[in-house]
Amino acid sequence: MSQLPVPSLRSAVKAIREATTTTFESSTGTPSEAFDVDRIRADFPILQLSVAGKPLVYLDNAASSQMPQSVIDRLVRYQTSEHANIHRAVHYLSETATAAYEAARVTLQRFINAAEAREVIFTSGTTEGINLVAQSWGRQNIRPGDEIILTVLEHHSNIVPWQMLAKEKGATIRVVPMNDAGELQLDQYEALFNERTRLVSVGHVSNALGSINLVKQMIAFAHTHGVPVLVDGAQAAPHLAVDVQELDCDFYAFSGHKLCGPTGIGILYGRAALLEAMPPFKGGGDMIHTVTFEKTTYAPIPNKFEAGTPPIAAAIGLAAAVDYLSGIGMAAIAAHEHELLTYATEQLAALSGVRLLGTAQNKTAVLSFVLQGIHPHDVGTLLNQEGVAVRTGHHCTQPLMTRLGVVATSRASFAFYNTRADVDALVAGIQTVQKVFA
Ligand code: ALA
Repeated sequence: MSQLPVPSLRSAVKAIREATTTTFESSTGTPSEAFDVDRIRADFPILQLSVAGKPLVYLDNAASSQMPQSVIDRLVRYQTSEHANIHRAVHYLSETATAAYEAARVTLQRFINAAEAREVIFTSGTTEGINLVAQSWGRQNIRPGDEIILTVLEHHSNIVPWQMLAKEKGATIRVVPMNDAGELQLDQYEALFNERTRLVSVGHVSNALGSINLVKQMIAFAHTHGVPVLVDGAQAAPHLAVDVQELDCDFYAFSGHKLCGPTGIGILYGRAALLEAMPPFKGGGDMIHTVTFEKTTYAPIPNKFEAGTPPIAAAIGLAAAVDYLSGIGMAAIAAHEHELLTYATEQLAALSGVRLLGTAQNKTAVLSFVLQGIHPHDVGTLLNQEGVAVRTGHHCTQPLMTRLGVVATSRASFAFYNTRADVDALVAGIQTVQKVFA
């Protein structure tokens, strides 16, 4: 394991305790008096499971979060009494399903404060949202020699679609570096801009390290150059209040299954003017105005981007998940998770042989770590025997792992239903792993 200098764990704790910059403050508040984690946990049937004879401690929320009973119930109600195809028939069930699907779009619009519901496109998830922009906006607007700015923190889903586009068009990818704490170097970001810069695509929150990027600032700078910005919000939307109008982003994508909704659903927000000017991504039913063998004209947005029968149940389930989260309040969620982050960072700091990767001042509750002399996959396997679920590997961020000088980490990622007892179980599990390998 290379010895890249990183701030010590104790200074990380201090930094997290002192985190007061605008990104965090604007997205969070003080813990709500009404925030009762035991009551919240009771809403999640899966959290009652035992694994390897131990109570489940689920700390893989950055990969996928769990579903509360209200969302499960909504899916059952839809499937048992509301299901039919949408936008196509005048019978009772079709009209019921259409109304529920379009109401879901409005729920999502309000969740991110989009100006209009038609700016919300249902996708299969963040990956499809980014591919949609790359293949539609990108193929229309990127020319040979153009430059696309990404960052070293990106998930593969915010790298590969742009590489595919760049290869096809003869464009170049430019990469914003980060410091050793996992914070993007904004002076270097600004220095990357030139007359060839056409797009910035940046994660709001790093899935591997939890760093909250200063996207609002990055967007404002890009706009001074007339450059649009896509924000990958997969790891932000479940943890922070997102306001696309306040961010002033041009596109914002996230997935449903990371915020207590079903898999196979997500949204892409796009400014109406941009979406209207973009060609369709996929062709098929429900996205057309007229079709002849000579020519097809397209439906207005959002239908233009929703070819075929969409994941109707999943969209309705996602709206139920958003209602559930909104009922708790994103500020209360962020405050509880920040408290867990502070506690967990302190607890890990007290252990020897632990290297924490990602000590940004502004973080969501993600702890990526390596144990001296122990491969992360062994850590994950042994933690599983203690009932503790973490993700191990490169987290679909191989360029970031290269920057950090590691091939893999173990990652504990927290949600609002996690507790200090979960942190204690993680710490006890790490100590057990260290004993096994001593
Ligand atoms: N992107 C998901 C993660 O970070 C799968 O685990």
